[in-house]
Amino acid sequence: MFQMLRDRVAIVTGAARGIGLEITRLLLAHGARVALVDIHSGPLGQTAALLGEAAADFPVDVADAGAVSQLVQDVVDRFGCVEILINNAAINPITPWDEICPEEWERVFAVNVRGPYLLMRAVAPAMQRQGWGRIINIASIAGKQGGPNSGIHYCASKAALMDMTRYLARQVGRDGITVNSVAPGIVDTDMTASWPLVVKAAWNERNPIPRLAQPLDIARAVLFLASDLAEYITGETLDVNGGALMD
Ligand SMILES: NC(=O)c1ccc[n+]([C@@H]2O[C@H](COP(=O)([O-])OP(=O)(O)OC[C@H]3O[C@@H](n4cnc5c(N)ncnc54)[C@H](O)[C@@H]3O)[C@@H](O)[C@H]2O)c1
Repeated sequence: MFQMLRDRVAIVTGAARGIGLEITRLLLAHGARVALVDIHSGPLGQTAALLGEAAADFPVDVADAGAVSQLVQDVVDRFGCVEILINNAAINPITPWDEICPEEWERVFAVNVRGPYLLMRAVAPAMQRQGWGRIINIASIAGKQGGPNSGIHYCASKAALMDMTRYLARQVGRDGITVNSVAPGIVDTDMTASWPLVVKAAWNERNPIPRLAQPLDIARAVLFLASDLAEYITGETLDVNGGALMD
């Protein structure tokens, strides 16, 4: 198989399961070495061990500024550099919009917005020095159309992430770094496992491609944006939603 990312070094957050794990697998299959980051150290360690020498686990809460700085240093010590960052970790508590307590609001923004910001800030200097970098933020259709299946804080956090993508793309383009987002629709993962069947059935009925996404559908878009095929694309949000939203 032609390997699109031979010897590239990537960080994938939220890599213990779901979309992050599938992105990790695909990047590894295309020759990358991958630092798996997740707050859940147990499953993360077991997963990394099964993936072989090119994978290493880094149990970190992406909202923790000190831990994120140390993470990037540790990844450079282990793999020599950081060339690709996939900001995938996020939380999506389903709470009615008028019942969200301040602590829950703060936590959603800490993980979904501050976390990606801290990671981007931490990897940018190394990418600038080497003159090459790829940053890919996993956003959501929910950040474009106000839900309707997710919390108001989650939707707002994903809208923020897409604009942070555009902001940073302008800042670092001349250093050889591209910054893009991928915006999935409904993906078949633990995050959506408890969603009512009626929501999923309506999704399938309404959309041109009548199925939920699998994590691999999202991982393939990430692989494309991380590869040299996408070298002239930056500040973009790539919808991967089966045609649910065309904008
Ligand atoms: N599943 C969907 O339908 C869907 C749709 C649109 C966008 N997305 C986005 O895709 C990404 C992955 O979603 P998923 O469905 O695989 O979710 P998931 O809940 O299955 O996995 C998320 C992973 O992130 C980790 N994580 C959570 N908080 C963290 C923190 N503070 N620090 C480090 N790791 C943390 C979790 O432990 C988990 O392993 C998220 O950004 C999500 O918002 C998902």
